[in-house]
Amino acid sequence: VEHPVTPFSIDRGSLHASLTDTAMESMNLLNQVAERYPKAISFAAGRPFEGFYELEQVHEYLRVFCEHLRTGQGLTDREIARMLYQYGPTKGIINDLIARYLAVDERITAEPRSIVVTVGAQEAIYLALRALRAEQRDAVVAPDPTYVGLTGAARLAEMPVLGVPVGEDGIDRDELVAVLRRARASGLRIRACYVTPDFANPAGLSMTLESRRQLLEIAEAEQLLLIEDNAYGAFRSSDRRLPTLKSLDRAGHVVYVGSFAKTGVPGARIGYLVADQEIAVDGVGGAALLADELAKIKSMLTVNTPPIAQAVIGGKLVSNGFSMVAANERERAAYTRNLQRALDGLRGRLGAIPGVSWNQPDGGFFVVVTVPFPVDDRLLEHAADHHGVLFTPMRHFHSTRAGDHQLRLSISTLTVDQIEQGLDRLAAVVREAVGAV
Ligand SMILES: Cc1ncc(COP(=O)(O)O)c(C=O)c1O
Repeated sequence: VEHPVTPFSIDRGSLHASLTDTAMESMNLLNQVAERYPKAISFAAGRPFEGFYELEQVHEYLRVFCEHLRTGQGLTDREIARMLYQYGPTKGIINDLIARYLAVDERITAEPRSIVVTVGAQEAIYLALRALRAEQRDAVVAPDPTYVGLTGAARLAEMPVLGVPVGEDGIDRDELVAVLRRARASGLRIRACYVTPDFANPAGLSMTLESRRQLLEIAEAEQLLLIEDNAYGAFRSSDRRLPTLKSLDRAGHVVYVGSFAKTGVPGARIGYLVADQEIAVDGVGGAALLADELAKIKSMLTVNTPPIAQAVIGGKLVSNGFSMVAANERERAAYTRNLQRALDGLRGRLGAIPGVSWNQPDGGFFVVVTVPFPVDDRLLEHAADHHGVLFTPMRHFHSTRAGDHQLRLSISTLTVDQIEQGLDRLAAVVREAVGAV
């Protein structure tokens, strides 16, 4: 006798709360809009420029890495094969190369043992939050607006994110202190403050040297850990790069998160963190480094970062004298040119419209435009459908209403012609909406 089969289903509401979270749902929605309008000119995608990709280069990086192991470290081909084929150390196999790169490009002194090589900066951020979130009262502080990867990782780690307003020079320091005080008074324990001092995603702006120093002073005074995410630091338009928080940090308050997605090979998915804070056991220090604790979590998440992917990035570092700034001269020139084109193009097209303004980033991928009408997903859909242009409504990056009249433009994937054409289309959207207000 055949019984009727009821298909097994799982109620989404019974799954982890992050899956019904508006922050995570809105990013999926944005991706769907982009997928539905593949012909639209996209100022939405924050991916790196693809024009310089060469297939042969990946093979070359692998060869250079193997040669480095052979001649630089005296390994046999058998040992090298084992390193690339076999499961590897949880902390990584290119920690020494990343340490040299950090010294060359960022003037950061990092011992290889304080570095964990991760599957993108995304895993690094998650590992840090996961380790820090021990109790229900634990929370993290971040600029408002902030990177969706931070918000999403915090949701997975079940950690509330308390937003701090940002100004022209990054996270507002007075507001930060006020948020810390209020949070503590209400019984919360603030485990860390996440910041992107260079060309923040989505705000585009950077902290000045002075504001970096002030933030470090607050960290010392408040005994606050800082998580510094530096995905875009190599792409400053001018030659005057500013020191990272980590390089200015004297008291060990900074966990530094890096990514080779924009500077290396995005598909390799290599990021890392420097977590050199000492772990104390029963009040006695020296037991281990925070990096060791994070590696324990990683061993249960991704086990180890794929050695072949690490080898590709390692080869790129060796090939370029351990400088990703040097390796990315062409890319930096392209992003600088694109950013300038976008800023000039906005002035030419929207400069005379009352209530329309935009910020002036000195590098990175993003420009934020403020307009006198609400920017939401309906407007995005309309812009895609009727004008063939995509952008990101800033409200998706905010926990407050502060971004309701703003949109983010990303200039990284486009050619100059596409930027000009895209801005023509964007200007039509703006003029239409202003007329309708
Ligand atoms: C602020 C920020 N951090 C990190 C990353 C890169 O993360 P991953 O290395 O996981 O690609 C991005 C990329 O979009 C980013 O915008």
